[in-house]
Amino acid sequence: MIVLPHGPIQGTNMNDIKLEARRHFLKFLAGSPLLASLPTTPGFCDDLESAEVLNLISEPSEAIDIFDFEKVAEHELPPAHWGYIKTGVDDDRTVQANRDAFSKYYMRPRRLVGVSKIDMSVELFGTKWETPIALCPAGSQRGFHEDGELAVAQAAKNKRHLMILSTYSSNSVTDVAQAYGGPIWFQLYPSSNFEITRGLVAKAEAAGCPVIVVTVDQVTGDNRDTLNRYRKLDTRECSDCHTGEPRPNFEGLKGGGGLATDLTWDIVKQLRSITDRTILLKGIVTHEDAELCLKHGVDGIIVSNHGGRSEESLWASLDSLPEVVQAVDGKVPVLIDGGFRRGMDFFKALALGADAVCIGRPYLWGLAAFGQEGVEQVLEILRREVRMAMMTAGTPSIKDIKRSHLAAV
Ligand SMILES: Cc1cc2nc3c(=O)[nH]c(=O)nc-3n(C[C@H](O)[C@H](O)[C@H](O)COP(=O)(O)O)c2cc1C
Repeated sequence: MIVLPHGPIQGTNMNDIKLEARRHFLKFLAGSPLLASLPTTPGFCDDLESAEVLNLISEPSEAIDIFDFEKVAEHELPPAHWGYIKTGVDDDRTVQANRDAFSKYYMRPRRLVGVSKIDMSVELFGTKWETPIALCPAGSQRGFHEDGELAVAQAAKNKRHLMILSTYSSNSVTDVAQAYGGPIWFQLYPSSNFEITRGLVAKAEAAGCPVIVVTVDQVTGDNRDTLNRYRKLDTRECSDCHTGEPRPNFEGLKGGGGLATDLTWDIVKQLRSITDRTILLKGIVTHEDAELCLKHGVDGIIVSNHGGRSEESLWASLDSLPEVVQAVDGKVPVLIDGGFRRGMDFFKALALGADAVCIGRPYLWGLAAFGQEGVEQVLEILRREVRMAMMTAGTPSIKDIKRSHLAAV
C-alpha cells in the first residue's frame, strides 16, 4: 500500500496503483481554484470521480451537442472499451483527416427561399426514410451497454432510422431485427471459409434483411495503437467476459474460418449465386473501384475508410466522395460514413452527391452514456442540425441540395 498526502492508495499491481493515484489527483484538482481555467476537452481524463471536473451531463436531454455524449461515454466505459471506440490505426491521422475534410468547403447559403417546411426524406431501394441519417454497423455493442444492439434497434425504430447490423454484433441478427420490428440491413464480413459466409447470409435472409452490406476494407489486420494504449490502462481480466464463445451470428455454423483477407471481385459473383438480396460494398474510396462496382453489378456503394480504423491512408472519406459519385453517375445509390458529427457535415456530403450518410461513433457514445435514450437523443440532435443546415442553405428538400451550395475553401 502506498500513502499519498490525499489518502492511502489501495492496489495490488502497478496499474491499480496508477489509476488510484490519478483518481486522487483528480479529486484534488476538482477542489482547486486552478481548475476554473482548464478547458474540459474530451479525453482530458477518464476517471469516474471526475464528473464534476468534466462538467458531464447527467441525462440525455441536457446535451447541447453530440460531443456531450462522447464525454460521458469516455467517463463510463472501461478504458479498453473506450479505446475500442476511439481508436484509429497508427497515429489516428485518418480519423482526424475525416473530420478535417469538412473544413475544406464553405456553404453558399441562398436567401428568400421559403424554408418553413423542411423535407429531409430520402428513398433507398424503394424504401422511404424520414432523414438521410443511418446507423453504421459496429461490432460488440454489449461492450458499451448491457442492452447492446437491442437498445440501438429500439432507438432506431423509435426515431425511424435505417440500421445496419454488424456481422460481429453481440446480439443475433434475428433478435435485433425483432427488436427493430422491421427490416434492418446486414453487414457481412466474408469469411475465409465460404460455408460460414453462406451461413451468415442465410441467417440475415431468414431475419428479413433486404440488403447485404459487404465490408471490403478490412484486410490488413490492424495496428490500433490507441486501443492498445487504453488496454494497458485496463486492469480487468479480459477473459472474464471475452470467453472465446462464437459471436451470436456464428452460432451453429460449422467449420472454422477467420476474416477473409484474400477477397477479390469474385466475391460479388459468389454472393449473387447464394442470395437475391441487394448487395452493397462498404469501403470504396476511388473512382477505379466505383467503376468496378458497376461492372460487377453491385447495387450500391458506401464510401468509407472504416472511420479511419482499418487504414492510415490519410484519404478522408469526404474527399473520396466526389470521384466515386462522378464514376457512378447516378446509376446506383452512394452512401458515405466517416467523421459526421454536425448537421453541416451531412449537408456537405449531400451537396457532393451522397444519397445518405451513416454515423458510427456518435451513436455508440449515446449508447455507452445512456443506452437507448442516449442513442435517441444523438439522432434527435443530428436531425435538428441537418434541418437547420437545410434552412440556412435555402434547400427545403434533399433534392434541392446542389453542388452549387458549396464552395471549396
Ligand atoms: C466500435 C466500432 C466498431 C465497428 N465495427 C464495424 C463492423 O463490425 N463492421 C463494419 O463494417 N464497420 C465497423 N465499424 C466502422 C463503421 O461502420 C463506420 O465505417 C465508421 O464508424 C464511421 O466513422 P465514424 O465512427 O467516424 O462515424 C466500426 C466502428 C466502430 C467505431
